[in-house]
Amino acid sequence: MSVSTVKLPAGGTPAEQVLRQMGDLRVHDANWREGRTWSLVYYPGEEIYDFLKKAYTMFMSENGLNLAAFPSLRKFETEVVAMTADMLGGGPEAAGTMTSCGTESIIMAVKTYRDKARAERPEITRPEMILPETAHPAFEKAAHYLDVRPVRIPVGPDFRADVGAVRKAISENTILIVGSAPAYPHGVIDPIGDLAALAAERGIGCHVDSCLGGFLLPFIRKLGYPVPDFDFRVPGVTSISADVHKYGFAAKGASTIIYRDKSLRLHQFYIYTEWSGGIYAHPTMTGTRPGGAIAAAWAIMNHLGEEGYLRLADNIMKTSKKLMEGINSIPGLYILGRPDMSVFAFTSDTMDIYALGDAMDARGWHLDRQQRPPCLHMMVTPAHEKIADQFISDLGECALAVAEKKSAAPGGTAAMYGMMGTLPDRGVIKDFVLNFMDDLMSVK
Ligand SMILES: Cc1ncc(COP(=O)(O)O)c(C=O)c1O
Repeated sequence: MSVSTVKLPAGGTPAEQVLRQMGDLRVHDANWREGRTWSLVYYPGEEIYDFLKKAYTMFMSENGLNLAAFPSLRKFETEVVAMTADMLGGGPEAAGTMTSCGTESIIMAVKTYRDKARAERPEITRPEMILPETAHPAFEKAAHYLDVRPVRIPVGPDFRADVGAVRKAISENTILIVGSAPAYPHGVIDPIGDLAALAAERGIGCHVDSCLGGFLLPFIRKLGYPVPDFDFRVPGVTSISADVHKYGFAAKGASTIIYRDKSLRLHQFYIYTEWSGGIYAHPTMTGTRPGGAIAAAWAIMNHLGEEGYLRLADNIMKTSKKLMEGINSIPGLYILGRPDMSVFAFTSDTMDIYALGDAMDARGWHLDRQQRPPCLHMMVTPAHEKIADQFISDLGECALAVAEKKSAAPGGTAAMYGMMGTLPDRGVIKDFVLNFMDDLMSVK
């Protein structure tokens, strides 16, 4: 936060007034309840939402920093991990922890493989991990924080990791191969079997990032949708990240990192024995761990059970199919690749796709912009069932207007994204985004 004129009020404000003010401030927020957003919020409906609030607030003061002090939280966490491991084909040796988000799970996985290599292969002084270009930036962040070199490889025309390129990229220093199930940008699952086989051949780790799909793919497979093997059923897969706060519909702050084998998890833990405050031993990156998030994850998994997740998955997949067919039926628009679940992107060869995004913004829809190739991104949740028809109708009208160049939203993002796409100097973009972030984090 930058220095500002905002100061702690000298006197307090009545609770009612503060809450009213907070409610008022939400007016300009993204309208996820009405299905207007296509990322960030996974809303399963008001009834489940109210239940989650109760479960969260019951434990909002408890701290998962010390599970020995809170046997309730210990039960919640270990059972969330056990249930998730089982859903993902883990055997009796599987073990893991909860973390606060997918990014933290990924950082923990990279730390685990780095520290395992340090312990067992000290000849590796410059560890590397192989990342398909569609892998989530959380891996880059982990690489940056943990001093592991990211080796990016391309994806094929189907947006799945190019296995040949992975094979070529493996070196003496490789400690980890990463695949996604699915990757966020186009919603397709990497060829996990091939990636894991390469990893197993060389005795290195294979992490599957299923932050997005871990709580949906097992259920859509049970519903009869074709889902390629992506989890511990694939020999050679050594760890999986899966987020309960995405398609698990938990409150924010709940992800899991699961290892095929308990011995791997030991490399994740951090222990400091010399502190005057006592021996500090911690399983994850953060210090204090919000009890509410851990409790709400356990609560939602028990409340929904397999039956509830199947019901939601059925709804999500039917809505996704409707939306994808609707988009493909609009002249000039098409879905990229063959998405494996409910996350996908669409583009156009005949119109400025970012201008279409701006036109949809003007109608109150928020679609994330992507690059390489330029496209718009969607992530479908149960909130979208009732607005799917309206969305397709608006998209059709906007596409027509953009194609006929009747819609050019002044001040929209099209010009900025168009310009950024043509800039060969990525440093300029980084500077631009740095300033943008600085501004965003300043009091207004
Ligand atoms: C595939 C994938 N991995 C990791 C993440 C990071 O998750 P989080 O935002 O919870 O840190 C995301 C977020 O959307 C994702 O889609």
